[in-house]
Amino acid sequence: MKKIFATALSALIMTSATAAGHHDMKVVNVGPSQTMVRIHASDNYLMLPVQESVDDSKVELLVNGRIVKTFYVRLANNEVDYSVPFDLRPYADENVVLRITAPHSQTVLNSALHAGEKNKRKELWLSDLKLTDTFDITNTEKYRPIYHHTPQYGWMNDPNGMFYKDGVWNLYYQWNPYGSRWQNMTWGHSTSTDLVNWEHHPVAIEPNDLGSIFSGSAAIDHNNTAGFGNDAVVALYTSAGDYQMQSLASSTDDGMTFENYADNPVITLPTEARDPNMFYNAETGLWNLVLAHALEKEILIFSSPDLKTWTLQSAFGKGLGARDGVWECPDLFELSLPSGEKKWMMIVNLNPGGPFGGSATQYFIGDFDGKTFTADTTPGGYVPTKWLDFGKDFYATVSWSDAPAGRRTAIGWMSNWQYADQVPTLQFRSANSLPREIGLFKAADGQIYASSMPSPELKKLRGAAYVNLTGVSINKTGRAIELPAANDGACEINLEIASSGNPVWLTLSNDKGDEAVMVYDPKTHLLSFDRTHSGVVDFNENFPALTVAPTFENNGKLGLQIFIDRSSIEVFEKDGKFSMTNLVFPNAPFNRLQVNTTAGNARLSRLAVYPLSLDNTK
Ligand code: FRU
Repeated sequence: MKKIFATALSALIMTSATAAGHHDMKVVNVGPSQTMVRIHASDNYLMLPVQESVDDSKVELLVNGRIVKTFYVRLANNEVDYSVPFDLRPYADENVVLRITAPHSQTVLNSALHAGEKNKRKELWLSDLKLTDTFDITNTEKYRPIYHHTPQYGWMNDPNGMFYKDGVWNLYYQWNPYGSRWQNMTWGHSTSTDLVNWEHHPVAIEPNDLGSIFSGSAAIDHNNTAGFGNDAVVALYTSAGDYQMQSLASSTDDGMTFENYADNPVITLPTEARDPNMFYNAETGLWNLVLAHALEKEILIFSSPDLKTWTLQSAFGKGLGARDGVWECPDLFELSLPSGEKKWMMIVNLNPGGPFGGSATQYFIGDFDGKTFTADTTPGGYVPTKWLDFGKDFYATVSWSDAPAGRRTAIGWMSNWQYADQVPTLQFRSANSLPREIGLFKAADGQIYASSMPSPELKKLRGAAYVNLTGVSINKTGRAIELPAANDGACEINLEIASSGNPVWLTLSNDKGDEAVMVYDPKTHLLSFDRTHSGVVDFNENFPALTVAPTFENNGKLGLQIFIDRSSIEVFEKDGKFSMTNLVFPNAPFNRLQVNTTAGNARLSRLAVYPLSLDNTK
């Protein structure tokens, strides 16, 4: 009996040593569904091979026999798409064991094929784990934007917890450090002093025993109301475990590291509620918090003297606005109209149910008394639904707290839940939109709308004008201009159209026959954007699309600012009256712009093209 056991044991370890090929790592299959990877190494990283199409394996990190971390990875079964690093540095001198539990599909396979032979499993990852000191994050992808914020690697969704302090714009984001699809929600962290050059920092908030770290906000506690110290940075996020609860964390090193509050959670509710967004209300001397009551499709408004004890004051939105999806990621702030009149703006992100399918950002303009938000109505008593952007790829939009000079700067996740995890990139998935300055204007219909202007810092990206024309007449044949080739065509196009009635077509194209087509129709006051033939569009049936924006008319005159950055096109009306954000995946950079009418004449009072590069900002 003893002898049989000893033989079996040596067979196991032998197999493991060969499979791993490294004397500091032993891989032992303990059953058809479970493997122990024992590491005692000086190396910095364990590289985990990922195959995106398989299900998640569960990875538990045991140090001295206790689980200190749990995460999920799509460990490769028969093909490796890419590898992700597991950082061993925090455990340098420890005996580390990763207990890996295979997904159900593989467990079933393993038990069926290898009943009783637990050391003969065949999944590729078992022989493809590697210890290494370096992990190369050099960009390897042609669709990674140049001047937009992206994660170094892995999946990103919502921007989170943005605050500005001492010249630094802090941006956190929903991040998966272990793959380019949604999982393991963690707050990644980047900072910038100019909103275009981003520096990446270690993870700010990691999943803990209350759950993974969903979206939330951060603010500076100038008066030490919470007792974490004067000017401590306080973050409020959703702990997503079996239930969604709101948790607090504080930072005394300007947002680099956070400590979770010992008495978390600070808010619990019987049904799904998430994405807390708080701000200090100087008028009441209390904190306010907006929280998405996701399935009820309403926004709960709380107040608190100390960020720890929250009192529910009211609920906004029942029966109002677009409601074909869940309500998420709210934001509430005050803005001034050019007349000086002050109004409050409530942002409510919605998924699905956006105007062009999938996710989108709606907002309401109204008044707020510290307890209740009341939306403005039309003269007929109706609360209109308003959209902050008229493309398919602008979601989870929220703003920076404490931005300088009274600015209200916001940023959105530049993707759509319909296809975000299928877009043709691998090393990373998703970028954030350009930062935008939010303002208000009153339109001819008497309603107040939000304006979105590209943040002024973006001007620093411009090189010398590549094209600079004034007073160009166009007709059916039109005018074609070449676009700059540097930086894969990253550029800004500024144009002013004057048309007494004829639609004007703007066609971006390349030598592969891909086209992104914008049409301005002065009669309907609409600008459309068609990406159905813009390159790679077949990864999801919802991707080929036409989006349409109202141009808030002005006698046939339309000024546009168009930003192109490898896989995105953002169109802004020159005063920010609308924006339109769409992804595109052309087979080669767009290198031509054709402007024409379908019949008759129109005029371009200005057409300027600037190549954009981060080099110009240095
Ligand atoms: C919005 C959202 C949030 C949630 C987060 C999870 O895109 O669904 O409501 O907190 O993503 O990653």
